[in-house]
Order: sequence, then C-alpha cells, then structure tokens
Amino acid sequence: MIRVVFVTGASGYIGRKLCAFLKSKGVCVRAYLRSPESGPWDECFTGDINDASPKMLEGADTIFHLAGKAHMISPTVDEIRENFKVNYDATIRLAQLAEDLDINNFVFFSTLAAFSRNTSYGQSKYLAERAVLSTKIQNKVVLRPGMVYGPGCKGNLPRMIYAVSKGWFPPVPEIGRRSMVHVDDVVKAAWLAATRPEAAGRTYVVTDGVEYSVRKIHEWICKALGRKAPGWTLPLNVLKTLAWVGDMIGKLHGDRFLFDSGVLEKLIGDEWYDSTLIQKDLGFRPTRNLRDSMEEIVNHLRKEGVI
Ligand SMILES: NC(=O)c1ccc[n+]([C@@H]2O[C@H](COP(=O)([O-])OP(=O)(O)OC[C@H]3O[C@@H](n4cnc5c(N)ncnc54)[C@H](OP(=O)(O)O)[C@@H]3O)[C@@H](O)[C@H]2O)c1
Repeated sequence: MIRVVFVTGASGYIGRKLCAFLKSKGVCVRAYLRSPESGPWDECFTGDINDASPKMLEGADTIFHLAGKAHMISPTVDEIRENFKVNYDATIRLAQLAEDLDINNFVFFSTLAAFSRNTSYGQSKYLAERAVLSTKIQNKVVLRPGMVYGPGCKGNLPRMIYAVSKGWFPPVPEIGRRSMVHVDDVVKAAWLAATRPEAAGRTYVVTDGVEYSVRKIHEWICKALGRKAPGWTLPLNVLKTLAWVGDMIGKLHGDRFLFDSGVLEKLIGDEWYDSTLIQKDLGFRPTRNLRDSMEEIVNHLRKEGVI
C-alpha cells in the first residue's frame, strides 16, 4: 500500500497532474521542486535534482521520478551536458538513495526516444533506465510514454498548432506513424506501475494505441481552429529538397536551420511503438485519443493567448 510518495519534477506538466491524481487517491504527496510554489501536494522540498538528500526521502515508500530535461529541439553542447547531468547523473543518485533507504517503489519516467537513442535526450534516458533497473529496489519500473498531449501540454504539438494557426505549416504527405498519449492516461499508468507487483523490473511503453500521422493531426488542428483543412499536399520530393537546403544553411551557420532533415524526419518518420504489454500486465486501458482532445487543447492555447 502506498502512503507517502516523493515526486520529482512535480512542477512540470505531467508532475502536477500526477500529484493531483495521487492526492485524489488519499496519498501523502511530497513534491521536490526547484523553487517553492503552491500545487497539489502536502509537503515540498526545494533544490536542484542533483542535491536530493536522504532527509527528504525519510518515511517515503514510493518515488515517482519525473524531473528531467525534455522538449529541446536542437540542444547546444552545454544543454547536452545538462541533459546528462539531470536525466542520467541525478537519476542514478536518486535510485541509489532509494536503494540505501529501502524504498520499495521507484517509477522512472523515461521516453520512447530511448528506443532509437539518436539524441542526447534518448541516450541519457536510456542509460538512466539501465541504472535504475540494475538497482536492488524491489519494484522498479520504467515508463516510456509517447508524446504527451492534453490542455497545457508542451513541446512539438503546441508548436505545430501555433504554426498551423499562422498558416506556416505545410500539408505533408500522409506517411509515418507516431505514438502519443493523453496526460490523464499517463498518470493512471504511473499509478498502476507503482501499485501492481507484476510491474516490478518491467519497462512499459505507454501510449493510447492509436497510429497518428502528422497529416491527420494537421487536419484535426484545422478543424479545431474552425478552418478548412488544405486539400493539397506538398510533394515529398519538395520537402526533401527543402530539408537538404536547410541542412546546408545549418552547416554554413554552425547552427540548425528552422527546417532541415531532422525536422522532416519528425514530420514523416515512423515513431510508433506497441503498448500492449502494459495492457496485458497491468490492465492499463487508455481512455482518450488526440482527435477528440484537440478542441480542448486548442481552446486552452487560445485562453493563454498563444494563438
Ligand atoms: N511531455 C512529454 O511528451 C513526455 C514524453 C515522454 C516522456 N516524458 C518525460 O516525463 C517527464 C516529465 O515531463 P514533462 O512533460 O512534465 O516535463 P516538464 O513540464 O518540462 O517538467 C520537467 C520537470 O523537471 C524539473 N527539472 C528540470 N531540471 C531540473 C533540475 N535540474 N532540478 C530539479 N528539477 C528539474 C522541472 O522543474 P522546473 O519547473 O523548475 O523547470 C519540471 O518540474 C520528463 O522526465 C520527460 O522526459 C515526457
């Protein structure tokens, strides 16, 4: 039974939702924040994630480790170093503390990028996963969520909605599949991971199971914005040529250009992963999908004055 949880990254997008969910389950929530702020928690400690100490963990039976560097498009060398410091070094330290203090449950938020490991984000998370799973913590679980959506979400989806609202986003061909998941479902998956003994030592992909294409997402954004979706498609050859030009400009300037082959890969590449294991093992059932959630996401961005 879970009584006292320690949540890192509690101030983040998923962290806040998770803390609210945990409180609704009657659990005592101890948040770890970089600076004091109010939120759905009972107690809080502040500091950098690399400075977490045994005192903060006293009496906790479960750790949800979410603090991490995410949502970077083209990180600089310093940001890559920071990535490893936060995503890898701090995770090892925290898992070691948990092992030393006999904390039985440790849920680590990793990413689908740990599959390909072709970014510093994916590499740092993958190495951290290995470290967590090699500890003697009884119930250690790694979650690899797809791109998380919901009102207030961060990263590529709000960037795309903004670009579509400005008329800058090209209608790309319908190729490539992506995995995504609603924040409410991620939080439920995290709860199952912490409370079900079957999860011990497992790594779970957490998605809503839908195969998304950027083309379809574009159409749903247009609908939510009250616009007609474009009836034409920018041919793949044109996109590839533009990406090549972007690569050349990036090389000349020593910095990535707005549109290059990395961005094209995000638009049409295949990043879909099967998430049936968590359904079979833990009975996880996603309840939301992006198409039906788009209106509330767009409305939230409108309310915030972003679009
Ligand atoms: N959102 C997604 O699509 C997605 C998908 C897969 C996996 N994930 C993983 O899920 C976790 C949470 O993601 P999110 O979307 O909620 O991210 P987020 O909103 O950017 O939140 C990141 C959290 O980490 C904290 N943090 C960052 N550096 C820190 C440091 N040096 N010391 C202490 N705290 C630090 C941030 O604190 P501040 O508020 O002070 O900055 C924030 O609370 C991350 O580990 C991410 O890799 C996210």
